[in-house]
Amino acid sequence: MITKEQLLASVSPLKDLEFGLSLADLNFIRDIMIKEQHVSATVLLSSDNESYKQQLQNQIAEAFKQAGATDVHLRFRLLSEFDRNEAARKAQESASAHEKTERPSVNVLDPQSGVRFIAIASGKGGVGKSTVTVNLAVALARLGKKVGLVDADIYGFSVPDMMGIEERPQLVNNRIIPVERFGVKVISMGFFVEENTPVIWRGPMLGKMLRNFFNEVEWGGLDYILLDLPPGTGDVALDVHQMIPHSKEIIVTTPHATAAFVAARAGAMAIHTEHEIIGVVENMSYYACGKCGNKDYVFGRGGGGKLAEELHTKLLAQIPLGVPDNHVAEPDYSPSVYKADTEIGLIYRDMAEQVIQQL
Ligand SMILES: Nc1ncnc2c1ncn2[C@@H]1O[C@H](COP(=O)(O)OP(=O)(O)O)[C@@H](O)[C@H]1O
Ligand SMILES: [Mg+2]
Repeated sequence: MITKEQLLASVSPLKDLEFGLSLADLNFIRDIMIKEQHVSATVLLSSDNESYKQQLQNQIAEAFKQAGATDVHLRFRLLSEFDRNEAARKAQESASAHEKTERPSVNVLDPQSGVRFIAIASGKGGVGKSTVTVNLAVALARLGKKVGLVDADIYGFSVPDMMGIEERPQLVNNRIIPVERFGVKVISMGFFVEENTPVIWRGPMLGKMLRNFFNEVEWGGLDYILLDLPPGTGDVALDVHQMIPHSKEIIVTTPHATAAFVAARAGAMAIHTEHEIIGVVENMSYYACGKCGNKDYVFGRGGGGKLAEELHTKLLAQIPLGVPDNHVAEPDYSPSVYKADTEIGLIYRDMAEQVIQQL
């Protein structure tokens, strides 16, 4: 005698197209009637696609026959609104249960978590600190690393715009789900404060929020978290130093002597707080003539190399002037992300490889 349990077990590998769970778990196979070797049942469909229905017909009939039925009769009907809500609830439950067993919430601030922090600092604004942070994060993700990015520059939360992020993080089970773009999980303070909040309030708020960014954000497993720090050596930079004592640093400067000079202060602070500086990035190093390839050192020359020497670290990259050739119409429009196979994209790839090698 065939039992209902045997029949349901026989179809357990079959999943619903839309909800991704097994048809049996979703309760999409109902009204099972067994009369000796004759079996009939109703199958709920999430799609009225004819070939999907045909495929299920074949697979279920086959499975039931494996379980001992000789004669299978299936009726099909589309999900009702109610069925659909129930299924969505089950899928959600299953996803969060999965999340819990698969990756227990880790405290990313704990050095044992294995997450490596890299703070990107600069002496002053406008040198390309955020551009470097975003592109290094994307380059690490392109190399298969799991990367988070925290936009902590209270003077201008530019990361979402630079990456073309329009959505806001979701709250699931009281945890903040970062927005993912190009494989990078992004959290920006700009997601949570009004555009016109005065900067003097942002500083103290950020201190609190930074803690939350690390504790209340569902990062999942990560290899790296990059932090876009505010320029200079203010409170936020200090907070970060204290909160994440094991963070490494990258200092961004332009080749101009004065820029390198102020960047040295950020470097001095890193050294003072015993943060290892993994390198200097010289941005806007030169303009390469599109026709002749000649390099024109429009902002001076040598600042990055000199700074690296002064900080006893290496010059990770010299990035020329050039804007990404992304067009507004592209689905992945992101004004500041260089494509992987462009000249600057390759420089970032090389930088990411050096970072991986060092950390
Ligand atoms: N290598 C580069 N070539 C051309 N423009 C750049 C380059 N790096 C950055 N920029 C531009 O310079 C401006 C300042 O860069 P940004 O990353 O916002 O600097 P910061 O974060 O240091 O203030 C932005 O408009 C950015 O698009
Ligand atoms: Mg910036």
